[in-house]
Amino acid sequence: MTQVDRVIAQRLDSGVPLVGDVARYIISAGGKRLRPVLLLLTCGALSYTGSQRHNLAAVVEFIHTATLLHDDVVDESTLRRGRPTANERFGNPASVLVGDFLYSRAFQMMVDADSMRIMQTLADATNVIAEGEVLQLMNMHDASLNEEGYLRVIRSKTAKLFEASARLGAILAGSPSAIEAACADYGQALGTAFQVIDDVLDYDGSTTEMGKNLGDDLREGKATLPLILAMQLGTPAQSQTVREAIETGSVDRLSEIVAIVRDTGALEATRNAAANEAQRAVDAAMQLPANHHRHAMVALASQLLNRRH
Ligand code: IPE
Ligand code: IPE
Ligand code: MG
Ligand code: MG
Repeated sequence: MTQVDRVIAQRLDSGVPLVGDVARYIISAGGKRLRPVLLLLTCGALSYTGSQRHNLAAVVEFIHTATLLHDDVVDESTLRRGRPTANERFGNPASVLVGDFLYSRAFQMMVDADSMRIMQTLADATNVIAEGEVLQLMNMHDASLNEEGYLRVIRSKTAKLFEASARLGAILAGSPSAIEAACADYGQALGTAFQVIDDVLDYDGSTTEMGKNLGDDLREGKATLPLILAMQLGTPAQSQTVREAIETGSVDRLSEIVAIVRDTGALEATRNAAANEAQRAVDAAMQLPANHHRHAMVALASQLLNRRH
């Protein structure tokens, strides 16, 4: 990961000062660097030790960072990684354009890997993420969104990049297609569990630990799994309160909504859904050779269920 951070720092270079200022502002704030971790772990599990792994790990982090820059503009979020968001600090135009810079820098870097399969994986992932964000935009304020519709959004906007990161490890290692598929399944399931927990933490987390504001999802009228399940499990009156909050995007009754998702058992049911996805990730990882990297992949799946940030 130290090498990956070195590549990241080197490749942020631009002759245009504002590009570096905005990019360094968000990247130096930290972040869990989970997608690079996933890529390095799969490389490790499959015994690939070439230097392309550091380059591609930086690529997936750049793509992730670009999505965050754009996502915070779209979501009108003001806090990320414990700091004012880039849009708050530098404005929407700079955030959008530097997001574009990071996407295109990532594409310049992936050319270095000199592999059509790698290009294809990352081009597809980037395209699907964009589709997922647009799909979510279309679903805003729609209280009739069901679990299937919700899953479609999160598989696209979040799980796809986890899937690509894990798949890249297998491609770099020249693994047979069954192993590549197991890695992709692992990443997809892990990424799905990760986003489900993110959506739980929007109601049940702490701003200081998360480094982002709670209640942002409700403010945007996002029907995430905690709300979908609360409407199913609640009394007619509780369901009506949640439905109205999604339709209006009003956070006036946020504490009431938090109580409803808790009291109806919706939060617990959402956590159970995440646990099922995490188990699917573990099952996929078990198809890889037994070694300490695989062990870490399995541990990661259960750790993220208990994450607080
Ligand atoms: C945030 O991702 C966006 C989601 C997919 C929920 P992370 O939680 O991985 O963000 P950082 O990089 O650690 O800040
Ligand atoms: C994840 O969605 C964003 C992307 C994957 C682009 P969210 O909107 O839930 O992420 P946060 O909560 O802002 O980090
Ligand atoms: Mg957001
Ligand atoms: Mg969120």
